[in-house]
Amino acid sequence: MIFIADFGSQTTHLIARRIREFGAQTKIIRPKNLIKEIDKSKPDGIIFSGGPASVYEKNAPEIDPKIFSFNIPILGICYGFQLISKLLGGSVVPGKKEYGPATLGISNFSPRGEADKFQISNGLQKTFVVWMSHGDEVIKIPRGFEIIGSTETVPFAFVADEKKKIFGLQFHPEVEHTEFGIQILKNFLEECQKIKTQKSKIKITTQSSKYVVNIIKIEKKIKKIVGESYVIGAVSGGVDSTVAGILTAETIGNHFIPIYVDNGLMRDSTREHVEKIFKGHKVKPIAIDVKKEMLKRLKGVVDPEKKRKIIGNFYIEIFEKEMQKLIKSGKNVKFLLQGTIYSDVIESKGTKHASKIKSHHNVGGLPKNMKLKLLEPLRHFYKDEVRLIGKNLGLPDEFVYKQPFPGPGFAIRIRGEVTRERLEKERLVDNIVLEEFEESGILKNVFLSFPVLTGAFSTAVKGDGRFFGEVVALRVVESKDVMTSKWSRVPYDILQKISSRIVNEIPGISRVVYDITTKPPATMEWE
Ligand code: XMP
Repeated sequence: MIFIADFGSQTTHLIARRIREFGAQTKIIRPKNLIKEIDKSKPDGIIFSGGPASVYEKNAPEIDPKIFSFNIPILGICYGFQLISKLLGGSVVPGKKEYGPATLGISNFSPRGEADKFQISNGLQKTFVVWMSHGDEVIKIPRGFEIIGSTETVPFAFVADEKKKIFGLQFHPEVEHTEFGIQILKNFLEECQKIKTQKSKIKITTQSSKYVVNIIKIEKKIKKIVGESYVIGAVSGGVDSTVAGILTAETIGNHFIPIYVDNGLMRDSTREHVEKIFKGHKVKPIAIDVKKEMLKRLKGVVDPEKKRKIIGNFYIEIFEKEMQKLIKSGKNVKFLLQGTIYSDVIESKGTKHASKIKSHHNVGGLPKNMKLKLLEPLRHFYKDEVRLIGKNLGLPDEFVYKQPFPGPGFAIRIRGEVTRERLEKERLVDNIVLEEFEESGILKNVFLSFPVLTGAFSTAVKGDGRFFGEVVALRVVESKDVMTSKWSRVPYDILQKISSRIVNEIPGISRVVYDITTKPPATMEWE
């Protein structure tokens, strides 16, 4: 059992997932309850998560220093490491802010080709890429600690007190894009295992992929929650709502009624795609056309949070109306199925100490007094796990590997006001990007690809005349679990063709720029 003290990181839940992938159990605990929980049952190891606070800030989450007296291995990540340093006599200061990739060098790399001086650095390369996301920095490590690895800007990026089995990382080993991150977590588990020797209950499996999501368990849970009542479902054709919908259709059959809200903000032929998904199941989606009303509600709105809230509220209004109609026809509708996944939850401030990044329309964007109860069977899963569930349900790749498309659709890919004209422009540009990606065969290799109408304007010369038009930004990213992403190295000739087609074919566009920002710091969507 590994305890994870949650200081509010976006990735606390992801740390737990990675540890469970090695066959260990995890419990996420609020820092102030940690000692109490240890008194109840001693874990094999403790991980302190990162978090958005600064250790010297007023009301920053703290931990009782008694924690260091239990002789339990501790791994501090980012804020967790800074807190350890502060509590044990080191110093933390506002440092050079750093978000995204950095190169870590192992200090005493063994000439035999492996960093085997310490268990914690076993199996690593001499240098590798790690992902950072921090503002503060440790400038003095506590007595007893040694440097294991540094980056160009952070000398204390990876440290250890070998005797006490306390480890500190300034970077995030849990995210997909940190090379050897999983190996470091595995090494930590092995340290935990050593401490307990024969008594250890941790059995480390060698392969992360052995971790399988139990579909039967999810379906049983759906049945238990829903009983004999009816469920209406928000289906958008995206992977998450498709998998949630099929799971529910398989569990309760025609007590599930999928609803597709045609809000005019989706890609072309989404409606046909949704109908195709449920073909062969006993359920038939109801389509509701609200295109005109949607535009009316978004009129004059420029703030992205407002857009999300308006869309979230409108959806619930539609679903509750539909619920009343169905109840009148004798169907006892109680639940609204949503394909919410964990990344939506955590970005919408899903835990006590976490920051709100944005109110995803299906989580933080919902009205307070809803009549429908939410059914969210995928709430604790990540995108790659949802895809795995979809594959295990026997869904074709066409559904499972479809590019994610946000619920608020084009509304959050148009900076500023969403008007009929701008919506049409965004749709045309989006089609060009999709067509070119499809034709060059790279569509299936990227996680997301889309243009943004930036609301910025620039000068162009079209046919010898000055033209002042809108700038389109092209965003193409690679990711598996949505928590981090790299921008895609799309071949220049494909970019060139897309750019030429957009500025030539779409009136009002003066320029195309390519977004070369990782997540973190930038989110995938612009709003
Ligand atoms: P971000 O921009 O948060 O994107 O890095 C991560 C994933 O979430 C999608 N996304 C949303 N999906 N409602 C949704 O249903 C939203 O409000 C929303 N905002 C972002 C985004 O497209 C990407 O797949």
